[in-house]
Amino acid sequence: MHLDITQPHLLEDYLKSKNWLNPQEQVLILEKPGEGNMNCTLRVRTHDRTLIVKQSRPYVEKYPQIAAPANRAIMEGRFYEKIQPFASINELMPQLIGMDTQMNIIVLEDLGTAADYTFLYQPGQGLTPADTEALAHYLSMLHRLTWQETIDGDFANREMRALNHEHIFKFPLMETNGFDLDTVSNGLQMISMGYKVDTKLKQKVHELGMVYLSDGRCLVHGDFYPGSWLKTANGVKIIDPEFCFYGCPEFDLGVMIAHLMMAKQTEDTIRRVYQAYGEVKNPQLVDQFTGVEIMRRLIGLAQLPLSLSLLDKEELLETAYDLLVNS
Ligand SMILES: Nc1ncnc2c1ncn2[C@@H]1O[C@H](COP(=O)(O)OP(=O)(O)OP(=O)(O)O)[C@@H](O)[C@H]1O
Ligand SMILES: [Mg+2]
Repeated sequence: MHLDITQPHLLEDYLKSKNWLNPQEQVLILEKPGEGNMNCTLRVRTHDRTLIVKQSRPYVEKYPQIAAPANRAIMEGRFYEKIQPFASINELMPQLIGMDTQMNIIVLEDLGTAADYTFLYQPGQGLTPADTEALAHYLSMLHRLTWQETIDGDFANREMRALNHEHIFKFPLMETNGFDLDTVSNGLQMISMGYKVDTKLKQKVHELGMVYLSDGRCLVHGDFYPGSWLKTANGVKIIDPEFCFYGCPEFDLGVMIAHLMMAKQTEDTIRRVYQAYGEVKNPQLVDQFTGVEIMRRLIGLAQLPLSLSLLDKEELLETAYDLLVNS
């Protein structure tokens, strides 16, 4: 089964063969529910309801020439299974309706035609105190309730971590990575060179990369940024845990705070995150992951729709450097 937006009848037959649609239900139309790069994600409309169907392929959907771990949708499905017993996490995510490990397909509850939170990167946009608390509380619950003595082998997710490791900890500081940052912000290439030749920084980022790759005791979302948060009629919801793994909780928190900083959120908002999250085992590690996430988003390949001047970026890079090297 190859998910294809132009083939609603094929998908109807497939969903019925799996009992995920009733025998009399008809697929009216397939739609693209939102922006996504990695996978083929579709909204299925029938007379009575809508569903989200997501398939991962051995390549990145938007750039088929780039290989990617084929079973990442199944990792995502396993995440939803794992959190099933925990209402406080579960209720903030779509329900898993079905999973086909052979076809790398998952079927999810549709959370509605909600926008994600990347609007936060626009000037003057703020995360409300209620949303800030809900997101931090979600992370806190995820990390605490999934804590266990032994690492869950199902969640090693090594290939996805290797992919992310390359993008976060290696590519951004490569001197000759072939990516001309002046095409993003004129002058950024030169600014980035100062960091790319800094051996102390590179050593720190290398060590931090090893922490990221090591196994830990709790389930980590792995991609906890505004693109994974949906603003629905029932409040903020969290999607897309395909990069999940059993690792250190500081990673999710560091990434979240990095994005709040790049979205110019107030210090009050960041304080509120820490308050709602509760005890952090290693705050220094959170700072370091914040630093590395800022750096990779500003001088790495996975750019964001940020509205930052060159001076803003220069200042943020300095802050990131301090968090990494001097914290
Ligand atoms: N359960 C859902 N309910 C409503 N909309 C959804 C749901 N899942 C995904 N979407 C929409 O589809 C978009 C793409 O989904 P998702 O982020 O899971 O795909 P992806 O291919 O993994 O994306 P990325 O390349 O950003 O990792 C989301 O931004 C959102 O707009
Ligand atoms: Mg994704």
